[in-house]
Amino acid sequence: MTSLVYSDIRLYRTVMQVLYSGRYRQRFEDITAVIPAGTRSVCDLCFGDTVIAGWCRSQGIEWTGVDLNSSFCARARQLGHHVIEGDLMTMELPPADVYVMAGSLYHFHSRLAELCDRVFARTRTFVVSEPVRNLSASRGPIGWWARRSANPGDAHATFRYNEATLTGALEEQCRRLGLRMRVVSVGRDMLLVMERRTEVT
Ligand SMILES: C[S@@+](CC[C@H](N)C(=O)[O-])C[C@H]1O[C@@H](n2cnc3c(N)ncnc32)[C@H](O)[C@@H]1O
Repeated sequence: MTSLVYSDIRLYRTVMQVLYSGRYRQRFEDITAVIPAGTRSVCDLCFGDTVIAGWCRSQGIEWTGVDLNSSFCARARQLGHHVIEGDLMTMELPPADVYVMAGSLYHFHSRLAELCDRVFARTRTFVVSEPVRNLSASRGPIGWWARRSANPGDAHATFRYNEATLTGALEEQCRRLGLRMRVVSVGRDMLLVMERRTEVT
């Protein structure tokens, strides 16, 4: 069953505001700040909220959101955004100049190669923002609750990255696919950009 936190955007935002000590919106602003000038289309995987969608609209960038949560998708559609509802690992993903994934990579840790194959079949640039300092790593009831609160509807996602495991996992994908990776910042979240190398002719 989907976690209660994922059932309503207001509840989700409240919980995230607490987890991010009031800097919930700032993490999206950090992400949009690294979207390259001239970007015409963005695909926001596991978008949940529509902060990036709103920014794209204000910039005249075409935004497509992908999420399997029907309540988040319905809300985004009501706001007039283009949404593909379903499991991003089985659907046909759209081409886009830039792909974004915020706070969701841990859901795919055991299928990271498959995820990167799917993403880089559709784009050259993948912006990832992922928590690396997690409450869910805490012992006791708070850690238990944080681990249990991230069930998108399939299984409780108890795995979380830290700085070393995230860097290691993504560097492995960069080696495998011939990408370069730029770490933009490291705080509670690690923000990084993976890009296809530009061929020199
Ligand atoms: C922790 S939330 C992150 C939401 C938002 N990006 C943010 O940073 O606040 C994870 C999101 O991933 C979605 N999700 C999880 N597994 C998915 C899958 N296989 N396909 C599509 N969406 C998925 C969930 O429905 C949820 O909206």
